[in-house]
Amino acid sequence: MIRFTDVEKRYDAGAPAVSGLTLEVPAGRTTVFVGPSGCGKTTSLRMINRMVDPTSGTIEVDGRDVSRTAPHELRRSMGYVMQQGGLMPHRTVADNVATVPRLLGASKGETRRAAAGLLERVGLDPALGARYPAQLSGGQQQRVGVARALAADPPILLMDEPFSAVDPVVRAELQAELLRLQRELSKTIVFVTHDIDEATLLGDLVAVFGAGGVLHQFAPPEQILSAPADGFTARFVGRDRGFRALAFRGAEELTLRPVSGYDAGALARVPRLARGASLRSVLDALLAEPARIAVVEDAAGRPAGVATLADVAAALDAEAGR
Ligand SMILES: Nc1ncnc2c1ncn2[C@@H]1O[C@H](COP(=O)(O)OP(=O)(O)O)[C@@H](O)[C@H]1O
Ligand SMILES: [Mg+2]
Repeated sequence: MIRFTDVEKRYDAGAPAVSGLTLEVPAGRTTVFVGPSGCGKTTSLRMINRMVDPTSGTIEVDGRDVSRTAPHELRRSMGYVMQQGGLMPHRTVADNVATVPRLLGASKGETRRAAAGLLERVGLDPALGARYPAQLSGGQQQRVGVARALAADPPILLMDEPFSAVDPVVRAELQAELLRLQRELSKTIVFVTHDIDEATLLGDLVAVFGAGGVLHQFAPPEQILSAPADGFTARFVGRDRGFRALAFRGAEELTLRPVSGYDAGALARVPRLARGASLRSVLDALLAEPARIAVVEDAAGRPAGVATLADVAAALDAEAGR
């Protein structure tokens, strides 16, 4: 667990970059710091591993004040991933990934095997280990950055806008990959982004920061979307928040129509969604499908029934008590 208590950071005589930050990052979960540019997210993240020291206040990791721990010792228990990979250009990918194991005294053979395993773990072909960073795509470089951060198997991962510089398709792949990895690894992840969609997708908890490094709301993502704590958060969460909030509700809320009421040939052409799909993906599929119907499957992947826009609306009204 990482605890900020009344933390303030001023870089110079100017306005504080972070002010009065009190917050508890739970162990084994993903906590996202989100907010517009310049609101102190990176500063807050870097105070955890002492790349930056606070002006006042304390930060504890598992009850231990970080100001009393040597930075190099601290960083051994924390992987750090930055926006642009931060890879060493003149070292191979495998050497980049295995930097920390090497420093910790692993042999050449051990480090090579460890690097191959780590590359696989983040969804890369281990053969890429022989290449140089510039010979990889942006998305592949970010995966290498994640593999490197995982190399010493640290309990904490600090990630500063790791997916911001890649295109939207690759970004969605990297996000899915991180969710999969986190299900396997249960690290304590602190993830910084300016993108509220990314924050609500990845975060078990989301901290919304505003100007002057002020924390506006710290809550599970569904609560940030459905009940923004103040005007700033409501504006930041934005116009699509009603739609985004549907990501936290499932197709099982729908009262489906019997498949027998529809022409089988027509049904074969409409979108099919798993029973566990979110209402957001059901609504999106319906909006994209000219026939405005979609098939929802049962647990075995057979058609359980048909959903229409009216059925999504009915589920929303049912929950709202209308
Ligand atoms: N090394 C630095 N020296 C002086 N000011 C800084 C430094 N790093 C960040 N700042 C300032 O602190 C504020 C917060 O920055 P930062 O933590 O990088 O925000 P974010 O990551 O949310 O964009 C900004 O006003 C920024 O200009
Ligand atoms: Mg930043």
